[in-house]
Amino acid sequence: MDKIIIEGGRPLQGEIKISGAKNGALPIIAATLLCPGTHTIRNVPELRDIRTILQLLETLGVTWQRVDTNTLEINSDNVTEFEASYELVKTMRASVLVLGPLLARLGQARVSLPGGCAIGARPIDFHMRGFEKLGAQLELTQGYVDAKVSGSLRGGTIYFDVPSVTGTENILMAAVLAEGTTVIKNAAKEPEIGNLIDMLVGMGADIEGRSTDRLTVHGVKKLGQADIAIIPDRIETGTYLIAVGAVGGDVTLTHCNPSHLPALFEKLRYSGLHLEKGKDTIRVIRSGNLKNVDLKTMPYPGFATDLQAQMMALMTLTNGLSVIHENIFENRFMHVAELRRMGADIMVDGGKAIVKGAGKLTGAQVMATDLRASASLVVAGLAAQGVTEISRVYHLDRGYDDLVGKLSAVGAKIWREAE
Ligand code: EPZ
Repeated sequence: MDKIIIEGGRPLQGEIKISGAKNGALPIIAATLLCPGTHTIRNVPELRDIRTILQLLETLGVTWQRVDTNTLEINSDNVTEFEASYELVKTMRASVLVLGPLLARLGQARVSLPGGCAIGARPIDFHMRGFEKLGAQLELTQGYVDAKVSGSLRGGTIYFDVPSVTGTENILMAAVLAEGTTVIKNAAKEPEIGNLIDMLVGMGADIEGRSTDRLTVHGVKKLGQADIAIIPDRIETGTYLIAVGAVGGDVTLTHCNPSHLPALFEKLRYSGLHLEKGKDTIRVIRSGNLKNVDLKTMPYPGFATDLQAQMMALMTLTNGLSVIHENIFENRFMHVAELRRMGADIMVDGGKAIVKGAGKLTGAQVMATDLRASASLVVAGLAAQGVTEISRVYHLDRGYDDLVGKLSAVGAKIWREAE
């Protein structure tokens, strides 16, 4: 197991290339199960979660090859198995994304129910209720969801109590081959869902309402091969923008999509960062003092919960008070205790955190607890005086492609060591 070590206090200069989105690639790779053929997926990031979903697809009969660093060819002619084992699902909850495509293609699926997660209970009841609305019978046996449908799925109307990202994706993938029309109300609108819709429509699906909270799917009989590029990772983009905000500097992010981060831009500009948008670039400069801002995490286009921890680290470096509301997950303040070890003054009251900025942090030994919490410790370590050691960085490897390499290239003193 590795740890990451950072000598803080070095402003960042230069360019960082943004990778494809983890949360875009996972549903798109799962969707290749929907029909036979060789599907081409471009701009795929090199991440542990991608290796996990490919491993899962192999157990279902898929073969794949990496035709170049970021391009996969996935052949799903021989998808005969329909079980996603506990061993794989426990390492990555997003494995539940094979449920929809398997139900649509094979009429049955057996998927281990994901257990709890560091950031919250994260049930999948919306997914299951959605499949039942499409005519599937679902049973929970020995920790597995057993889903079956006699004949094919039938269109129906699904309403989500709160817009669920993977819930929307799972139902979309099931509905494209269902008989009749499906309407998803209060659907999630994250850009990664638009990416999946572009793939499915490219395969011959008939979907209306892209980027809105009402999706209408007219089921089709047959789908063809896919050829799709994964959108840039807006959470990786946001993490590097916040990192420059924390330690200062002048960095240009390339291969990104500036229009996918409206709420973050608003907050970073208010806190004093200079941001220049290009077609697929963002230049970020921080030279002056940081101003404190308040924020509430919300479904897209609101402030992303996956950037809350990183933004909290930034707010510890201001000289004012910031109130941060986490509205999406009930236990997403695991990074607070670690930031306190670096000298931060943060009070937590349920889903609200009050950050009293002290203008500085001090390096310390800290522990990563989940993917985005570990990113916030990297942001804090870059700005801290002295040396920070972050252990359990396997969390980071799940969602950041070559973070140490990218930050070193813009002047950070950061390296990995075996624990
Ligand atoms: C996706 O998770 C992302 N994961 C998460 O990113 C992200 O934090 C989250 O969306 C919110 O933006 C992937 O795309 C693989 P939800 P997902 O269903 O789909 C409740 C990261 O760091 N809910 O939109 O699992 C749920 O508990 C990860 O990259 C139910 O109650 O999140 C939460 O409170 C972490 N029942 C809310 O809805 C359900 O059936 C939104 O969750 C489904 C969800």
